[in-house]
Amino acid sequence: MGRLLLPALVALLLAGPARAADAPPGASSCTGCHAASRVPDSTIPRIAGRSAADIAKALREYRSGAWTSSIMGRIAKGFDDQQIDALAAWFSSQPE
Ligand code: HEC
Repeated sequence: MGRLLLPALVALLLAGPARAADAPPGASSCTGCHAASRVPDSTIPRIAGRSAADIAKALREYRSGAWTSSIMGRIAKGFDDQQIDALAAWFSSQPE
């Protein structure tokens, strides 16, 4: 039983919530912090609905270290250019 449960859980996690079906890989790891809805008094900037060019530029600058950050530099290093463009396009298409 235990042997069947783990793969099932992994499959569930990989599939993610149905709502995020068309989100690019990695997007669900962003929305935990960059919430889809407005979070009052949060220091985390909202990125949904921003221009894709701005989001992609920010991620590349975080990744290269050109723009200092507390955590985004570490996160951005996990994504290549193609993934950054996909994430930027998806976030900019989300309702503001
Ligand atoms: C652990 C929480 C956390 C996660 C996960 C996270 N971010 Fe961030 N993000 C932040 C914080 C905090 C900042 C402000 C800069 C800093 O201090 O790192 C930020 C800043 C940004 C900015 C710049 C916004 C601006 O106008 O200043 C962008 C774009 C961004 N994040 C995109 C993403 C994307 C895309 C992902 C997923 C790959 C992601 N973030 C994952 C917390 C997070």
